[in-house]
Amino acid sequence: MKTNKGNVVNPVKIGLLGLGTVGGGTINVLKRNASEISRRAGREIQVTHAAARDITRARICDTTNITLTTNAHEVISDPDVDIVVELIGGDKLARELVMKAIANGKHVVTANKALIAKHGNEIFSEAQKQGVMVAFEAAVAGGIPIIKAIREGLAGNRIEWLAGIINGTGNFILTEMRDKGRDFHAVLADAQRLGYAEADPTFDIEGVDAAHKLTILASIAFGIPLQFDKVFMEGITNITQQDVVYAEELGYRIKHLGIASRTNKGIALRVHPTLIPERRLIANVDGVMNAVLVQGDAVGPTLYYGAGAGSEATASAVVADIVDVVRTLTSDPENRVPHLAFQPDAINNTPILSMLDVETAYYLRISATDKPGVLADITQILGKAEISIEAIIQKEPARNETAVDIIMLTHRILESQMNAAIEEIEALASINTKVMRIRVETFDN
Ligand code: HSE
Repeated sequence: MKTNKGNVVNPVKIGLLGLGTVGGGTINVLKRNASEISRRAGREIQVTHAAARDITRARICDTTNITLTTNAHEVISDPDVDIVVELIGGDKLARELVMKAIANGKHVVTANKALIAKHGNEIFSEAQKQGVMVAFEAAVAGGIPIIKAIREGLAGNRIEWLAGIINGTGNFILTEMRDKGRDFHAVLADAQRLGYAEADPTFDIEGVDAAHKLTILASIAFGIPLQFDKVFMEGITNITQQDVVYAEELGYRIKHLGIASRTNKGIALRVHPTLIPERRLIANVDGVMNAVLVQGDAVGPTLYYGAGAGSEATASAVVADIVDVVRTLTSDPENRVPHLAFQPDAINNTPILSMLDVETAYYLRISATDKPGVLADITQILGKAEISIEAIIQKEPARNETAVDIIMLTHRILESQMNAAIEEIEALASINTKVMRIRVETFDN
């Protein structure tokens, strides 16, 4: 290929680590769109080396002209490789390989959210010293270019908060439960078969995967270090079909959200199931689709929507990162877009709030013995704790049952106050099971 000035330039050589769902998708997209991609990048891009645990297994891609190995170290130390694309997942071997690749002067593209969330501070610091780029668009929300949008497109804003459906598997499960009344585990098995779920699917359903992604989004939104261990996490395993139905009756949908927000006491980082008014666009993001809502002080709310998982959707982000890296190969490292959006010496340590200090509204489902005075006892506890009730529904007991469901929506209150009230309610003689609590957000500012 020739540059604008007529000079002949060599193809950029990619060494791929991992030939699974995303690795296969990346090869397919790079091959199919080779001509469009090189018109954009200004160079041809060739995958020349690839490492996989088992190179004999049938691939979902064509590996002709690619040197295959089971030893990833061969790829990261091959002098011919310009960019290492890490798609093996996990954070131990991946960390070792990425740190070595950086030390070898390779640029890195990764889709690995656990790696960036847990070791990103160290990785970016090393990359800066070595003058190489580490790009990670595919780590958050699959194919949605959310990193670029926040890091570059919204660079003029003070970001106030962001909230996202950032785990496709969890959203797929909640959607199928709502639309088809399907069993949680059957839907999870489908998500695994379709290649959406993590190698350890508890990461999807317990909120770990979403917390990895939220850690990354919060860092680039607020200019803070990556702090995965400070994210509050609650999964979707306790959500029942009843909760889905009751939420609908109240005009809400249940979504598993990652929320990062500034308060005057610090930054709140939380992942939990959330009731959202059904009129909000984000409440209508279904299946494996992801969406991130970002509130900037200048632009107001902006919403980014797209496929959050899957082979070519994620490959789309990986390839975009490769193009970005190729375009800046010859630029002065000091003048590149900073990895975490803010200049490294301008990252600050705004405190992260404890969940106890977070204020939100609540949905409560209380299973109580059907006898006079129960509701009065509950409302008295809530009143004493200064928790005002916005809506209340009491259900008829099912046939031959003595327990009734009482469903309440409250106004906003500190989590610590709600914890104390729930403890008192659970201690009542007429309450036999744990109170189900789901946080509620309306996103009206
Ligand atoms: N398991 C993840 C999800 C894959 O379901 O969203 C994409 O990160």
